[in-house]
Amino acid sequence: MSAVETIGLTKDYEVGFLKKPHRALDHLDLEVEQGEIFGLIGPNGAGKTTTLKLLMGLVFPTEGEARILGKPVDDRRMKAEIGYLPEQPYFYDYLTGRELLNYFGQLFGLSSAERRSRADELLAKVGITSAADVQLRKYSKGMTQRLGVAQALLNRPRVVFLDEPMSGLDPVGRREMTLLVRELQGSGVTVFFCSHILPDVEQLCDRVAILDKGKLVAVGRMSEILDVSIDTIEVVADNVEAELEVKLRPLCRSLERVGDRVRLSCAEQADFDDAAAELMQGGGRLLSVTPVKQTLEDLFVRKVGEKAQT
Ligand SMILES: Nc1ncnc2c1ncn2[C@@H]1O[C@H](COP(=O)(O)OP(=O)(O)O)[C@@H](O)[C@H]1O
Ligand SMILES: [Mg+2]
Repeated sequence: MSAVETIGLTKDYEVGFLKKPHRALDHLDLEVEQGEIFGLIGPNGAGKTTTLKLLMGLVFPTEGEARILGKPVDDRRMKAEIGYLPEQPYFYDYLTGRELLNYFGQLFGLSSAERRSRADELLAKVGITSAADVQLRKYSKGMTQRLGVAQALLNRPRVVFLDEPMSGLDPVGRREMTLLVRELQGSGVTVFFCSHILPDVEQLCDRVAILDKGKLVAVGRMSEILDVSIDTIEVVADNVEAELEVKLRPLCRSLERVGDRVRLSCAEQADFDDAAAELMQGGGRLLSVTPVKQTLEDLFVRKVGEKAQT
């Protein structure tokens, strides 16, 4: 049984006075295995939040269907087994962090002893123990985000949905969030999240899907969708006379002078071999050679850019 499955999931919003339909999600087919960390990425307006809202049953599909843990998205028993962090969590300003968790704990039917210990445990886990008794109106965006994550984990969910969990967090906070998500995976939880912070996604996800304008443009394991072969070889050299530069140029994708050094990049191993030979013969000196692999960001720009042109 998959953790999450969408089949032809489609959402049209009606916009404006004339209720003109706007397709926010267009026949999305996805399957997320249990225990995976799955990332949904895409530019603003791609349909990421819409996908999560459809999965949460907060909006209804125009076409298609979705299942979580094998159950339709309106199944109440299934809902007890999932957690959700909305894109912009809004909590009542005059509650403290601890009171909020206590309140949600009541909604989940936890006993008062359980609520107390679970709140302490989660506040510590997301790093806001010191703000446990501070009213939420005094929380920063990052603290609210952390509390939202604690809330999403309160019922020990089997599948957690996080909408932009890294937003509002500084680099340390993002690192902590990454560790937390890994820890969840370690305890068997499936994590489905969307984000536009690509380096975090690249580090964290087993698989990613790229959405653009409501359509799926790529999906797969990081190792499958990123070209693992080396993309370019970057070279820094000095003692490159004008004559040598002329010989190097045709072998390079780019070549620029930076002070008395030359920085060049080769698209192919063979070009690099030839450039290195020219350098040796022409009296140049090789200072560094760096193989550069394709990143998720490169792929993202290519996939989303390609479509923008068509
Ligand atoms: N309630 C709504 N009514 C009308 N259009 C909406 C609504 N929510 C989202 N949209 C539109 O649907 C598209 C996808 O939005 P969204 O799912 O929020 O994207 P993302 O989370 O990837 O930024 C956008 O064009 C957005 O303007
Ligand atoms: Mg969004």
